[in-house]
Amino acid sequence: MPTGLDFPAREWRSQPWAHVAAEVERLKKANDVVVLAHNYQRPEVQDVADYIGDSLGLAIQASEVDKQHILFCGVDFMAESAVVVNPTKRVIFPNLRASCPMAAMIDAPTLRLMKQQHPEAAVVAYVNTSAEVKVEADVCCTSSNAIKVVNSLPHNEVIMVPDVNLGLYVQRFTDKKVLTYPGYCHVHRDIDLAEVRTRQGEFPQAPLVVHPECNPELIDIADFVASTEGMIHYSRKHASKTILIATEQEMSHRLQREVPGKRFITFKRSYCHAQKTIQFSDVLQALETLEPVVTLPTETIVGARRSIDRMLALGRGEIIFERGAAPVAPA
Ligand code: 13P
Ligand code: SF4
Repeated sequence: MPTGLDFPAREWRSQPWAHVAAEVERLKKANDVVVLAHNYQRPEVQDVADYIGDSLGLAIQASEVDKQHILFCGVDFMAESAVVVNPTKRVIFPNLRASCPMAAMIDAPTLRLMKQQHPEAAVVAYVNTSAEVKVEADVCCTSSNAIKVVNSLPHNEVIMVPDVNLGLYVQRFTDKKVLTYPGYCHVHRDIDLAEVRTRQGEFPQAPLVVHPECNPELIDIADFVASTEGMIHYSRKHASKTILIATEQEMSHRLQREVPGKRFITFKRSYCHAQKTIQFSDVLQALETLEPVVTLPTETIVGARRSIDRMLALGRGEIIFERGAAPVAPA
């Protein structure tokens, strides 16, 4: 029987925060749990996480966990990736309804059709895809390594799914032909150019940092384009006291915490309901019950792992395909 909290999970707001935080730490230890959280999670969830990061950082962390349980606070594809990279651990996903709408825009049969239409092309799947889609891919990428992944391939054509904006962004930095798919992240797509222009007018010294899932018109005027983790590094280094951040609004929580003394301005409508599906009470309950658990069929784990492993191998500077398109990374 896992150890429980000394107050009902739903009533955490009536407890002093220091007590809540201490209880979380006690449960993590007693139940052998590590808490991983994406940068867009609710502030209180981020505040009890052992590691907060972008999709790549979370996948790497998940692969290195030595505790028995990974409590994953993010969206479905991220929790699946944790299962894929560390299948002997129990991956607890506090609310199974936390599902990324962009990842749901592409499925394995559709990707198989694209592959039939472009048999010479390599397939690069954004990590924001289901494990079944990753099985069909040659290699995965995240927003922080997409250019590097595509340019490392010997192929002249590359299918990139599902985010059209990430594909168009990568196309700017490669001679290969990038075949895009019409998927999108509504959070980033809906960041409005006119609003960004207005804010730039109000803060003329503030650099504009843009996520590659944003529309090309925003990329065109960005001072820096980066994944959420890249935004942290940039903000630490940049001298400006005010920075305009074109990504999901909760990013400002971690930025305020880790880069104090600066003002981070986010944009209207940049709110991801999927990422906010996990309530803090869900996290507390999951810590108590060690459920719900994410599972995948073994063959899906093996197939998806090949694509993620190739991406991680590239990050270590290894060659994953030889010219002639034969994969050299361990399958
Ligand atoms: P990164 O944190 O990897 O930049 O991904 C952004 C995103 O939209 C995740 O849902
Ligand atoms: Fe999906 Fe976009 Fe939300 Fe990320 S921010 S989980 S890509 S909808």
